[in-house]
Amino acid sequence: MRRERPTPSAPEEAATAVACPNIALIKYWGKRDERLVLPTADSLSLTLDVFSTTTTVGLSPAAPRDLVALNGTEMADEPYRRVTAFLELVRRRAGRFEAAVVDTHNTVPTGAGLASSASGFAALALAASTAYGLKLDNTELSRLARRGSGSASRSVFGGFAVWRAGQGTGDEGDSSSYAEAVPTPDLDVAMVIAVVDGGPKPISSRAAMRRTVGTSPLYRPWVESSRADLVDIRAALERGDLAAVGEIAERNALGMHATMLTARPAVRYMSPATLSVLDRVGRLRRDGILAYATMDAGPNVKVLCTGSTAQQVERAVREVTPQTFVAYSGPGAFLLSGAAR
Ligand code: PMV
Repeated sequence: MRRERPTPSAPEEAATAVACPNIALIKYWGKRDERLVLPTADSLSLTLDVFSTTTTVGLSPAAPRDLVALNGTEMADEPYRRVTAFLELVRRRAGRFEAAVVDTHNTVPTGAGLASSASGFAALALAASTAYGLKLDNTELSRLARRGSGSASRSVFGGFAVWRAGQGTGDEGDSSSYAEAVPTPDLDVAMVIAVVDGGPKPISSRAAMRRTVGTSPLYRPWVESSRADLVDIRAALERGDLAAVGEIAERNALGMHATMLTARPAVRYMSPATLSVLDRVGRLRRDGILAYATMDAGPNVKVLCTGSTAQQVERAVREVTPQTFVAYSGPGAFLLSGAAR
């Protein structure tokens, strides 16, 4: 449904931002505060250089309400409400009340089943805060993006990023939880993305997280081991040991899926095709190739490998699933136009 879109009142009250998705190597799974999106534990990710989101936010005092378009189609219902609730947060902080016209374009292939909420809310946080005149540093921007989607807090940064769970609730909790870049030696890192099923998820990550936290007997033990995994992976990153990074990431992801499988009722995102990719990755390792798998709230598999063997890993993964992409370390969120931060 296309509608006449009001144009923003003044060119300086519009901003366009770009952000890329990130893949967690130590997963964010579970909140201690749903409203403020405060996680139970720290997580760590790699921002990719593919599937970016570009978002323009313009202020429109003439518009009676926010207008939000995704890839040229007006958004409605729950996805629209999530965006307007986020804009409301930005307006409150800025002390301004104009409605916004939002135009978002995702370059992720439609139907590929690859989440775009991280790149989406990171780009929206930067474009909206700039358009409403807020000048946020990366820490403040990460805190803001977190409120849209937890994983978006990490897409503010390029390369590896850690999202601090922080402590406390209310204002104290809010200010203590944000992501920051993890400085690493120059790592020859890549990810092969295996799209085994592009269909919609059986259950949203939000709902699945809530159910897992509330009912899985493995949830608490996984949180404990995830905390230890974070310490280990940071040490492995520091010494540039990609094989150790992969090993820790794979066990962390499998542990997260174990918590879902033991939720009541069980949440199962992995499909037979997922397991075929895991088998192929295991064979690559036995053949001496560095390759480790991670999966999120869906059946697709991301294979961590070196940049120099990425094509070889992609060919191997293609033997078991037809749709694959190769990604490398990507940039943090940045402005294309609008006031500089
Ligand atoms: O940010 P959300 O609410 O889409 O949650 C993402 C959760 C996982 O992708 C499964 C893990 C993560 O850390 O990204």
